[in-house]
Amino acid sequence: MKITVIGSGYVGVVAGACLASLGHEVICADSDSEKIGLLASGKLPIFEEGLEPLLKKALADGRIRFTNELDWSIGQSDILYITVGTPSRSDGEADLTALWSVVNVNRIAHSARGRKLLVVKSTVPVGTCDSVEQLLRDHAARCRIVDVVHNPEFLRQGSAVPDFLRPDRIVVGCNTEEARLAMKELHAGIPASIQYCDRRSAELIKYASNAFLAMKISFVNMIANLSDKLDIDVDEVAEGIGSDRRIGPLFLQSGIGYGGSCFPKDMKALQTLGQSVGCELPLIDAAERVNAAQPHVILDKLKSALSTLRGARIALLGLAFKSMTDDIREAPSLVVSRLLAAEGAILNAYDPMVRRYPIREVAVHDDMYLAIRACDAIVLLTEWDEFRLLDWRKVRETVRAGLIVDGRNMLALDGMKAVAEAYGLTYLSVGRPA
Ligand code: UGA
Repeated sequence: MKITVIGSGYVGVVAGACLASLGHEVICADSDSEKIGLLASGKLPIFEEGLEPLLKKALADGRIRFTNELDWSIGQSDILYITVGTPSRSDGEADLTALWSVVNVNRIAHSARGRKLLVVKSTVPVGTCDSVEQLLRDHAARCRIVDVVHNPEFLRQGSAVPDFLRPDRIVVGCNTEEARLAMKELHAGIPASIQYCDRRSAELIKYASNAFLAMKISFVNMIANLSDKLDIDVDEVAEGIGSDRRIGPLFLQSGIGYGGSCFPKDMKALQTLGQSVGCELPLIDAAERVNAAQPHVILDKLKSALSTLRGARIALLGLAFKSMTDDIREAPSLVVSRLLAAEGAILNAYDPMVRRYPIREVAVHDDMYLAIRACDAIVLLTEWDEFRLLDWRKVRETVRAGLIVDGRNMLALDGMKAVAEAYGLTYLSVGRPA
């Protein structure tokens, strides 16, 4: 099939390369010429495991092209696949400016030849696809796009390629049989069942999925805070509840809380959606409140162990919002850094992927041992594997005081107890006995 992917951000590039690998002919369009130039030469503006080889192969096979000529690209394909961003506005609502600039009557009318399928992949508030279809219908004489489909994405950064090619499920919100058949053909080769549903349901499925996962994380963090008070190991509790199939073991990793470009934004958008129809969503509120409080849990642990943070040298290990990405959007490290800077701490940091950081008080090093040199405490903020392999003897020799606060509960408790005993270090984590 011929597909034009509009919006070459994270989702667009992953989708474009994956669709090309399935045998489709893909054009990726974006108004950012610099980005388009980079992508056309097989380079990625972001880091994502496994994506570069897939992109290079698609380019070599001639299955993917990149352009900044949006109108031209719309005219080339039968399927328009919209992957533009929908960031939060200051009032929490999703900002649909980029979407409406693409679904612009003049643009579509100017370029569309024949009937097309418009697939909205971007995360959009309930009713958006209906409005898009209405707009196109109102101008039916000029725009022959008939079918509008919502096909939410469930990719995680760090595992986006397998998430696209081997997802748990595919959700397709569509109203016509033609659209249904086209979406089936588009996904041929992906071993997952397709749930066909109403478009508005598909829009809500996306928000509800992210909200549920965020809520699961906040739930386990709430239990971790309780475990802290009761001197219980939250990992044991998570294992116990997670082995009930009705609950499941994933997304029960406690620690500093969730961040990233999706959960915080989608929680806000869901809140405003509820407000717009006069429906309270108290669980969303509660999950957000627990999440906002988690960085303070780390701060309190540091404060009580070091007595004062003024002048204390703190080494932050990990700045990205999760491992396997260089993305720091809404990263919990930002909140922790700001809180520590406000307390007068001296901050050094290391992250395997992040080199530029927006907080002036944080000195970012490209060597982990330089970041921890002469520090009073190490705070683990991203669960990078290399932090599991720290040379504890070297750590002990390098640091001033031996406090480690594990904001991701990533180091095995038993192992760390042995390390602490052998090297005279103090190890603290979230919801696990000291
Ligand atoms: C999330 C969803 O998992 C995807 O399904 C969805 O497609 C995507 O948002 C989106 O809407 O685009 P992502 O934000 O890339 O994906 O990453 P996650 O793996 O979900 O992690 C989100 C945050 O939760 C990270 O800060 C992570 O460290 C944290 N987390 C995750 C925990 O604190 N505990 C866990 O058990 C799991």
